[in-house]
Amino acid sequence: MRIDIISVVPDLLTSPFSASILKRAIDKGIVEIHIHNLREYATDNYKSIDDYQFGGGAGMVMMIAPIDKCISDLKAERDYDEIIYMTPDGKTLNQGTSNELSLKENIMILCGHYKGVDQRVRDHFITREISIGDYVLSGGELGAAVLCDSIIRLIPGVLGNETSALTDSFQDNLLAPPVYTRPASYKDWDVPEVLLSGNFPKIEAWREEQAYERTKALRPDLLDD
Ligand code: ADE
Repeated sequence: MRIDIISVVPDLLTSPFSASILKRAIDKGIVEIHIHNLREYATDNYKSIDDYQFGGGAGMVMMIAPIDKCISDLKAERDYDEIIYMTPDGKTLNQGTSNELSLKENIMILCGHYKGVDQRVRDHFITREISIGDYVLSGGELGAAVLCDSIIRLIPGVLGNETSALTDSFQDNLLAPPVYTRPASYKDWDVPEVLLSGNFPKIEAWREEQAYERTKALRPDLLDD
């Protein structure tokens, strides 16, 4: 998979891809991340990428011309399966969307800033608008990093143990069951006996029941779907 990210603050995107699982995925050649500084696509001598909004009002708007130039240059090199715009008024990210996107070859992500982009960018270039939650960030970069993390870890070969992504919370619209490791007894807090029983069908049944009970208690909305 190749992911191109267009940003006005590319520095914000350095560290998420420089450590742990995302770095390993890049080092293994499973994913390529290309970060593009929008300012390099400015079309005037002042390197402007934003301007006042028509009709007045506080806050600057990201101009269409630099974005058009950047997106068009990238599209001239390859076909993109998705051109995603990170914005608080997009569709809230969930595991289903991450699963779907993890199957794509080429994804472009545009990070919004200020009041956002000129609406014509959204109308003519963007195929999907994603929010990472009902709160406003200073820009789309942290959201883009969250989105990339949730997608990349699902690509086969990225996680050491392939089954671990499948047993994550949300993968079956259920929260994950509780997990324990050694020691079996700490102070007087004991690990549930069934987990020490070696009876795998019984362990599986216990985990399913725990996942269901946890979801019912903490996220009953997931069971409605
Ligand atoms: N940009 C600003 N806020 C955002 C959010 N909640 N999700 C995605 N991009 C954003």
